[in-house]
Amino acid sequence: MNLLVTGASSGFGRAIAKEFGSKGHKVIAIARRKEHLESLQSEIPHCTIVPCDICDKVALKNAIESLPKDFKEIDVLVHNAGLALGISSAQNCDFDDWERMIETNIKALTYLTHLILPQMVERKSGHIITIGSIAGRYPYPGGNVYGASKAFVRQFVLGLRSDLSGTNVRVSDIEPGLAEGSEFSLVRFKGDKQKADALYKGANALTPQDIAQAVYWVATLPPHININTLEMMPTSQSFSALNVHRES
Ligand SMILES: NC(=O)c1ccc[n+]([C@@H]2O[C@H](COP(=O)([O-])OP(=O)(O)OC[C@H]3O[C@@H](n4cnc5c(N)ncnc54)[C@H](OP(=O)(O)O)[C@@H]3O)[C@@H](O)[C@H]2O)c1
Repeated sequence: MNLLVTGASSGFGRAIAKEFGSKGHKVIAIARRKEHLESLQSEIPHCTIVPCDICDKVALKNAIESLPKDFKEIDVLVHNAGLALGISSAQNCDFDDWERMIETNIKALTYLTHLILPQMVERKSGHIITIGSIAGRYPYPGGNVYGASKAFVRQFVLGLRSDLSGTNVRVSDIEPGLAEGSEFSLVRFKGDKQKADALYKGANALTPQDIAQAVYWVATLPPHININTLEMMPTSQSFSALNVHRES
């Protein structure tokens, strides 16, 4: 099986690459930081790396078109690269943050799908797996555009399922909750490690390895089974009451 995973330089993407790579599958690893990809490559027997900003349409198209011959057929495409930026309320946010989340979590994901999907349909096999988030289902203060981008991802996956009827191409959205061991919160809090660490204190959160195992399970189920959406949370995480603002 050939895997293409975006955001393979850290966190979930790196763990997903290693999970497939350690089981003998060929891995195409995409991210911007070349040195991180090189270190990943040294740990996987059959791995080609693509240092590329997925928001750069021209660079991404060139990269896909120039894949080495034995990596050209993509069986599993994991859209993992993504980010949350900031936790401010909508009225106080930085619009550049919103734009970057939309560019990365939505636009780049749809463009890469557009590039890869035709070869899967032609072969009548393939699996597209997105890393969504529980933020796409449950709103929280400051989650605004990040949550909306992940809601887009889930609905896009369901729409693809409809369009791909009869093609044998599978599509799944994996939606994790609180997960530590990646750079997600460091990126969100713009390098504030204290703030990022505080989020996970005593939470026994999910790990990149947990997500990688879920992706691998979804991708290796018998071909007649399609997991549409898979929501996963640490046991410690649950729901709280809806907020009511009361006049004093
Ligand atoms: N951690 C959580 O709590 C959590 C929960 C639910 C969902 N998620 C989702 O899981 C996915 C992975 O997150 P993570 O927790 O593993 O965070 P992470 O460690 O920050 O990983 C994000 C990855 O995306 C890559 N990336 C970001 N922008 C990119 C761009 N323009 N072009 C190419 N690559 C880009 C980064 O690589 P470079 O910087 O090297 O480009 C990095 O490898 C994201 O979609 C996130 O929204 C995370």
